[in-house]
Amino acid sequence: MGFQTLDQADLQGKRALVRVDFNVPMEDGKVTDDTRLRAAKPTIDELRKGGAKVILLAHFDRPKGKVVPSMSLKPIVEPLSKVLGVPVAFASDCIGPKAREAVNAMQPGDVLLLENVRFHPGEEANDRKFADALAANGDLYVNDAFSAAHRAHASTEALAHRLPAYAGEQMRLELDALDRALGHPERPVLGIVGGSKVSTKLDLLRHLVTKLDKLAIGGGMANTFLYAQGHDVGASYCEKELAETAREVIRLAGQNNCKLFLPLDIVVAEKLAPGAPARVRDVGSIDEDERILDAGPETIERLCRAMSNSKTLIWNGPLGVFEIPPFDKGTVEAARHAAKLVREGKLVAVAGGGDTVAALNAAGVVDDFTFVSTAGGAFLEWMEGKTLPGVAALSR
Ligand code: 3PG
Repeated sequence: MGFQTLDQADLQGKRALVRVDFNVPMEDGKVTDDTRLRAAKPTIDELRKGGAKVILLAHFDRPKGKVVPSMSLKPIVEPLSKVLGVPVAFASDCIGPKAREAVNAMQPGDVLLLENVRFHPGEEANDRKFADALAANGDLYVNDAFSAAHRAHASTEALAHRLPAYAGEQMRLELDALDRALGHPERPVLGIVGGSKVSTKLDLLRHLVTKLDKLAIGGGMANTFLYAQGHDVGASYCEKELAETAREVIRLAGQNNCKLFLPLDIVVAEKLAPGAPARVRDVGSIDEDERILDAGPETIERLCRAMSNSKTLIWNGPLGVFEIPPFDKGTVEAARHAAKLVREGKLVAVAGGGDTVAALNAAGVVDDFTFVSTAGGAFLEWMEGKTLPGVAALSR
């Protein structure tokens, strides 16, 4: 897909409407993780350097088309200003007179954040009139929010058809990394899919087995596969009703020559609590009151070997209950091995989606990976092979 990028744009004095993703973790009105703010900096810097007026459009949480004061973007202003090293102005509406006045007061190089676009029902409805009202404040449009590109909303989709549209730097980095990992990877390519539920990752698994050379399944969802193969899973979390689906994924993998890795051994405990006594068992040999909470050492060793024999790794989801030690061990060891291979120049490792970033952070390897996506749902949908409306709207 071809995109226009900012180096092709005349920016001087132009009003640039920039869709960013500032849907950041927040506690008591304070941003607790500024990764997404930092991710937006290169594009904002480039626009400012070119003399543009930078007008930021973003959503926060899911106010469902109503003004919900606790979902205001105002608390973002101060941390964003710190990240950018310049003052950031704020307008309490993203369209209408308040937005217009704030935009009219801007000088080239200024940065303005507009209030939550989801305070208007037209945003999620991808409404034309709402998109027109947003477009009224801009001369050009930049989408730098890959992580919101799976939504066909006015600020991610309709707006791109109303103004000259460009892909921002974060958008470009995300798409490049995904292309390296799954679009045109260096082979062999190995996938790791973990997390608790098979039900949320069915489309993902079905698609991945047609794309990858090897796929390791871990986390709670591996229990469903073990159960489907006739193994006892004790008191473990398990979606027993999906056993047939798991068998279908196993069959599909076989038909597509994708080697599937299911756990060989498991870490079990009676209680899920920090420091709870844990035992290693072979799959299937589990007491009825025990739960599977992590992958066992043999399983991790085999996974690390598979990484060493691969050129590319794409990773989504932890292998165990990584938030609660000692059940973080499998995920941490596998993540560190991947990081080592990347440092040695032997592996391209791309990770993303939901808990994955937190798990890699816990392992202390985020900076070593080739690319760690800031996206949750968008990363998953891209891995499922779906077209993301926000990306499609930028394509020329
Ligand atoms: C995210 O945090 O993954 C994106 O900002 C999308 O948010 P949403 O799931 O509320 O659309």
